[in-house]
Amino acid sequence: MKKKLIAGNWKMNGSLSANKTLVDALLAGSRNAQCLVAVCVPAPYLAQVQQLVDGSVIALGGQDVSQHDLGAFTGEFSAAMLKDFGVRYCLVGHSERRQYHGETDQVVAAKAQRALAAGITPVVCVGETLAEREAGHTEEVVKRQLAAVIHANGHCISEIVVAYEPVWAIGTGKTASVEQAQQVHAVLRGQLRAATAQADRVHILYGGSMNAGNAAQLLAQPDIDGGLVGGAALKPADFLAIIAAAQ
Ligand code: 13P
Repeated sequence: MKKKLIAGNWKMNGSLSANKTLVDALLAGSRNAQCLVAVCVPAPYLAQVQQLVDGSVIALGGQDVSQHDLGAFTGEFSAAMLKDFGVRYCLVGHSERRQYHGETDQVVAAKAQRALAAGITPVVCVGETLAEREAGHTEEVVKRQLAAVIHANGHCISEIVVAYEPVWAIGTGKTASVEQAQQVHAVLRGQLRAATAQADRVHILYGGSMNAGNAAQLLAQPDIDGGLVGGAALKPADFLAIIAAAQ
């Protein structure tokens, strides 16, 4: 069985001193982790956290990447730049990027392509809003979001990570029930199976108010291969408890 993957998404939080305190605590507590661990940090802190996690079990992740290769795109940064800082994973299409920055399925697919081409694993985020769930459109929405990435990256689709993050569960304290989460994960697995014989290799993470109390139950589901953790990833004891639950 593959190891689970627990990734923290720090979002727009942190400072040089807070990052050091957090990472030092994570390093001390995760030495014997039986799962894969990553932290997705704000871009200005990549160099700092690269040094802090060097040689440890904690992999470095980015939160976004440009859909372009290089050139006149002020404010953006490329996959090659992330690679320069030892980035192993990169979130693409987080719902906050889709919502506040108008990222379309096609843009997200292009970002995944850039990451893959640079040797970085894109963590492709999909998920429905509350209105979409209540209208019965959950499966249709997540399948459409993943289909765009499969269409653009079919030949290496087994190299991606997928994160199912129901938008209504992000930062709200509301978690999808284990049944709701497993059901969507099974849909996504089925879609990957139709695209590749290696679908079982792909990590499908759950994200949305995952915490020390609910992680074990979620991670016990057959198609939940890890977690993408927001708020709890900023609290060492909570993040370490989630890592411990993923053994
Ligand atoms: P919370 O864990 O804070 O709900 O955030 C989830 C998330 O968006 C991770 O990418």
